[in-house]
Amino acid sequence: MRRSKDKIRRIVLLVICIIAVNDMYSQKKDDLLKDWSDMHNTKTDLFKDYNDLKFGMFIHWGVYSKLGGVWKGEKIIPETRNPKYGASPESWLQGEWIMFCAGIRRQEYRDVARTFNPSLFDAEKWVMLAKEAGMRYIVAMPKHHDGFAMYHSEVNDFNIYDWTPFKRDPIEEIYKACQKYGLRMGIYYSHSIDWMDGGDAGEAQYRNEHPGYIDNYAINHFDPSPVKFTEYIEKKAKPQMREILKKFPNLVEIWYDYPRNMNLEQSFDFYKLAYDIQPNCLVNSRIGNDLGDFLNAGDNEIPTDIDSKYKTWETPGTLNNTWGYKSYDNDWKSLDEMLFWIVEIASKGGNYLLNVGPDGDGVIPPGSVKVLKEIGAWMKVNGEAIYGTSKWITKKEGPTKPEMKSTSARKENGFNSSFTAQDFWFTAKGNNVYVISLADHVGEKITVKSLYECRQKIKSIKVLGNNESLKWEASDNKITVFLPPAANTGMHGFVLKIESDE
Ligand code: GLC
Repeated sequence: MRRSKDKIRRIVLLVICIIAVNDMYSQKKDDLLKDWSDMHNTKTDLFKDYNDLKFGMFIHWGVYSKLGGVWKGEKIIPETRNPKYGASPESWLQGEWIMFCAGIRRQEYRDVARTFNPSLFDAEKWVMLAKEAGMRYIVAMPKHHDGFAMYHSEVNDFNIYDWTPFKRDPIEEIYKACQKYGLRMGIYYSHSIDWMDGGDAGEAQYRNEHPGYIDNYAINHFDPSPVKFTEYIEKKAKPQMREILKKFPNLVEIWYDYPRNMNLEQSFDFYKLAYDIQPNCLVNSRIGNDLGDFLNAGDNEIPTDIDSKYKTWETPGTLNNTWGYKSYDNDWKSLDEMLFWIVEIASKGGNYLLNVGPDGDGVIPPGSVKVLKEIGAWMKVNGEAIYGTSKWITKKEGPTKPEMKSTSARKENGFNSSFTAQDFWFTAKGNNVYVISLADHVGEKITVKSLYECRQKIKSIKVLGNNESLKWEASDNKITVFLPPAANTGMHGFVLKIESDE
């Protein structure tokens, strides 16, 4: 009898303990989320400035660029994927994943890094190219998943200054060039995955918290570093982030990537350490655990719906099918396609961060340079319809609606849309609405349905690049605009500026 009473007492005590620990945990979680909201809410005024920039350059460049997607004579492609490593086939498209995809041992990768000497690197040339393309910010990359720092780090000597014959700090040079040419700068930092020093990338802790979870995606199982994940975070990732934030003030955004197995406290710490040093810098959603200031869409994805809790968003995209340089990926997207990405994203109120992957010598591939310059020529005339705009009541009208879901989906489907004279995208700025056509030849007049509702407010209609007010009329639930010959001979469409009184 006594024994069973004891047993009951012990069970009751255990239940009380579990409830108390749970309470403590949820109290801690609430406190932490409250602290996060307080910090996040001080950033309200920053979103518009960031969103007005609209178009930026992403740069994936590191030791992997030297390998160019080839390891010991073998190409890293989805067809040669080793399923035992777990990651999705998409990773095998990406040059910067070569250490993981080829299972390169850490010492071997360090040896490759020893010979990294990108003697043709010229930060000013890159920044001037971004400017010529009409880009208004650059997100450079102090550290990707391979753990190699592309700046002079005091925290860890596996960096371009201490480890290689190059002995320069490219991130600092890009930062200075951005200041010189008036572009804003952001940084990418792989906070969670580090194949060189990151232990198990948090796999064990995640499995502890989520029993039954099986997924070894992106984790270095081929030659793991002996350190614990928490040790990596405290001794490398956080100190490097602090170092970067102090070294490069006034950043526009931090691009953490990507929180495979991080818990809430860890993501919170990365948010707070950035806030403590640069409170005016926005943090992306790939910080993990819903602690981003703004949303990053998936790679090469244009979202159909944007979660309303985010005030703004950004799509990262590639010019071919890889981020880091691959010597054999020459599948360059056309100017028509690139304009579609820019315009579609702007019409939905987002930013477009378009990648270049310079090679191991520090040269941006000619295929990228060509299309970037072409984009720049279009932006010179039509950029007014992109920069500083917001979405209008209608985003798009017309029959052609390509969907962009991921890097691999885009690679498989190609880009077949040729836009018709009925396809229009809309953006808005102040009292103006912009109507963007990407059709090559549309005839002497066009009809736009979505403008009919606001016909009484229209003061004038012009084509960007031409000051003449155009003749237009409203009937049958649509507006007909009579175009000047120049709008119609130009390739890659034109933009109408609709000025109104209010
Ligand atoms: C993914 C990849 C990474 C790339 C990034 C760009 O997270 O892991 O290699 O840097 O997407 O958006």
